[in-house]
Amino acid sequence: MENSLKSKIVGFLQWYQDLYGGEWYIETPSLAAAEKRPGQTGAPANTPLQQFRHAIENCQNCPLGRTRTKFVFGTGNESAGIMFIGEAPGQDEDLQGIPFVGRAGQLLNKLLAHVQLKREDVYIANILKCRPPNNRDPQPGEVEQCIPYLQRQIEMVQPKLLVALGRVAAQNLLNTTESLANMRKRIWSYREIPLIVTYHPAFVLRYNDKLDAAMEDMHFILEYYHKLPEKEKPGQ
Ligand code: URA
Repeated sequence: MENSLKSKIVGFLQWYQDLYGGEWYIETPSLAAAEKRPGQTGAPANTPLQQFRHAIENCQNCPLGRTRTKFVFGTGNESAGIMFIGEAPGQDEDLQGIPFVGRAGQLLNKLLAHVQLKREDVYIANILKCRPPNNRDPQPGEVEQCIPYLQRQIEMVQPKLLVALGRVAAQNLLNTTESLANMRKRIWSYREIPLIVTYHPAFVLRYNDKLDAAMEDMHFILEYYHKLPEKEKPGQ
């Protein structure tokens, strides 16, 4: 592939820069419309994960519960081998209740396509389920309250590999202050599951020169993933 898809991604980034410059991304309803939500036709209705979602979606354990529009649980293949973990919902995600549906999400989709993956092949969630005002970094107390939800999701999805998107997600999962540059291209472990750190797609939107490195990371992730033993099927 490669060249044609890469030129499409580069075109996307150039278009994005022309339109928004250094500004943060804005809403893209089309992605959300294409996504199946629980309760909508074709969506898995009452899986254990969806039951868990219903149990926690009115959470008020931290002040973000009062300022959010929608609780952003997680989305994707509920038995995925790879789980991507971002930082926290942004404006688009807060409005739509689905992670990575804004411009960063569009770029994430393109990076997945770079290694022949679709969004539906993986599971996507965030450290925080609710948007911090003005997209500020998650505060330690918010992470402390929210991360058990993510841990439960990880237990339920049982991915073979976790991928932390960006410094904030990685530092919170790995309890480290390492820089992103030092965390990339290494195999970490979170609760005995291998974890790889890559750029947050929003960072690549701002710094287009990181696109090649982000694409290399996707290859690194997939190559490592394919070396891992098969996931056990339920009942085995
Ligand atoms: N950034 C994140 O970290 N997560 C989202 O869901 C969207 C943007």
